[in-house]
Amino acid sequence: MCADIIDGNTIASKIRAELRIRAQALAAQDIQPGLAVILVGDDPASCIYVRNKAKACKESGIHSEVYNFPGETPQDVVLEHIQTLNANPKIHGILVQLPLPPHFESRRIIAAISVEKDVDGFHPCNVGALVTGHALFYPCTPYGVMMMLKEHSVLIEGQHAVVVGRSNIVGKPMSLMLLENGATVTICTSKTRDLAMYTQTADILVVATGKPCMITADMVKTGATVIDVGINRTATGSLCGDVDFATVKEKAGLITPVPGGVGPMTITMLMSNTIEAAERAIH
Ligand code: GUN
Repeated sequence: MCADIIDGNTIASKIRAELRIRAQALAAQDIQPGLAVILVGDDPASCIYVRNKAKACKESGIHSEVYNFPGETPQDVVLEHIQTLNANPKIHGILVQLPLPPHFESRRIIAAISVEKDVDGFHPCNVGALVTGHALFYPCTPYGVMMMLKEHSVLIEGQHAVVVGRSNIVGKPMSLMLLENGATVTICTSKTRDLAMYTQTADILVVATGKPCMITADMVKTGATVIDVGINRTATGSLCGDVDFATVKEKAGLITPVPGGVGPMTITMLMSNTIEAAERAIH
């Protein structure tokens, strides 16, 4: 068996075309969706992510403001800035790029963002609402995964979904979203004893561990849908996922590549959440 590839770039382009139409409809009412991105420090990966977010905003008709604070900025200064952005009617979404420097309490920073502008979906109220199936915003990466599954008409209800990874950004919300859609969900970690015993029974396998190529073909059920959220740099400088793509693609039914899989979807769903926030602000 050779898996069909889930092409994140193609799906993201399609969604972005729809988003541009929604942004134009808002523009006709004199509203431009606005996203504020806060970056503290100069972590190279975070700088690239933030630059890509600003670029995507431009392409989607979204106004963006990037606030880059020096790494030694006191937490209170950032908290005050969030309050200013909460009160700014031109800003519909606020994102604080993570991770923050060690002297920050990420929980306090995230909780300071207005729930209505929490386009990352990380605010404790939105996390709680996700548990009860009423989230205002879905976290962007698992939201992107759900859109990929939908685009390929992957049956979720009644299926066994195994999520490997328990992060607040991906693993936990991913598990809840699959559960909300009727899957039977097993949550594992990279340290789960007999991990293969669980992954081998997955109809849908989502991997977000940050461990390069940890999922090998023997761990995957024939015909399974395999979603690789990992993005790791190898010793030679190339990118690889958490799934050993070369061997697993011979066994899976559907698989996402790295790069070009989940990656392009994450920023696209951030654009989607920002436009949604702007649409809600006028209703
Ligand atoms: N750092 C890594 N992923 C994310 C994300 O989705 N949102 C934010 N705010 N920071 C991140």
